Amino acid sequence: MPGLSERVKRLKASSTIAFNTRAEELRREGVDVIAMTAGEPDFQPPEHVMEAAREAIARGLTKYTPSEGTLELRRAVCEKFSRENGLSYEPDQVIVSAGGKQVLYNAFQAVLEPGDEVVLMAPTWVSYPPQVELAGGVAVAVRTRPEDGFLPDVEAVREAIGERTKVLLLNSPSNPTGAVYPPQLVRALVELAVEHDLWVFSDDLYEHLIYEGTFTPSARFAPDRTLVVHGASKGYALTGWRIGYGAGPGELVKAMNRLQSQVTSGANSLAQHATVAALNEVEKTRAFMTMTREAYRQRRDVLVDGLNRLGLSTPKPQGAFYVMADVTPIDPDEGKAALRLLEAARVAAVPGTDFLAPGQARFSYATSLDNVREALARIEAFLG
Ligand SMILES: Cc1ncc(COP(=O)(O)O)c(C=O)c1O
Repeated sequence: MPGLSERVKRLKASSTIAFNTRAEELRREGVDVIAMTAGEPDFQPPEHVMEAAREAIARGLTKYTPSEGTLELRRAVCEKFSRENGLSYEPDQVIVSAGGKQVLYNAFQAVLEPGDEVVLMAPTWVSYPPQVELAGGVAVAVRTRPEDGFLPDVEAVREAIGERTKVLLLNSPSNPTGAVYPPQLVRALVELAVEHDLWVFSDDLYEHLIYEGTFTPSARFAPDRTLVVHGASKGYALTGWRIGYGAGPGELVKAMNRLQSQVTSGANSLAQHATVAALNEVEKTRAFMTMTREAYRQRRDVLVDGLNRLGLSTPKPQGAFYVMADVTPIDPDEGKAALRLLEAARVAAVPGTDFLAPGQARFSYATSLDNVREALARIEAFLG
């Protein structure tokens, strides 16, 4: 076979592969494993959004849309940012992509030169470093600690910023830690970016999943250098529909769209139409989010209390649907600890390796309360 590119060869295979393969093997053998690995809501989307998708088919909205997204959806995104976040955008400052993931990919490609650095927080979402590297950049991780609730220390972030730093990447609420940054921390971090003339990429995908405290949009403090990354996946339970949106300075958004127009021609037309209903039918969507948020909160409380009681130290996060637990009492190597949890307790959690979180594992509570309780019972029996 002719060879592959160096760029793709360098792309690191996920270190959770061995773990996932084993989980799949067990399932095929008929072992009932409780999966706490999901990065997606276990709820079906709101009915009015499903109805809008059916209507889109009935109306024949089946053709290519403008690559930057339909004007209708970009207007709805502007209204959302104005209504919920006090941010003011015009539709030509908004791009719709195939998920928040593609918004981020476009953005790194649009701003990074080879060797440019992106400062991000560890534990980190697994896709940030590979996306940065695909754009020729270097991910520089600032470690955050469970005892600080995984909130970054502003001075440590300052120290990580160097000559080649181009982007400060923020994600609150965070995947995988669930940390929600308080307003004064967001402000201090954005001020650092201003001081060092950096872009701020603010991944706000989990905005609607906050159980205590409030969401603080980074863009409020420096709209002229901030790209907001958002989307329909998490808050509206629309992961498979692949709708994300970015909002920021027009020149950056236009550059991202030039790239997108050559790569995917934009997002799915039916899903774009349905997302307008999620954004515009405010009361119905709010009711859905109130219901799901309450369910997540209850599961989080049971899970965090249970893990701590079992000696797997776990800070209580304020947002998203993940917790990070110290699994070193099971094995100092988090990969081995997760494998033991899987094989002996039949509970699947993601080892922290790819999150740059040694000694930890991520448990997702985007699964039923019964599953959370059963998982804890199994872990308890396993720990003896
Ligand atoms: C922190 C974070 N950002 C972005 C995404 C991308 O989501 P999507 O591409 O489904 O919009 C995810 C999904 O897991 C995520 O956890």
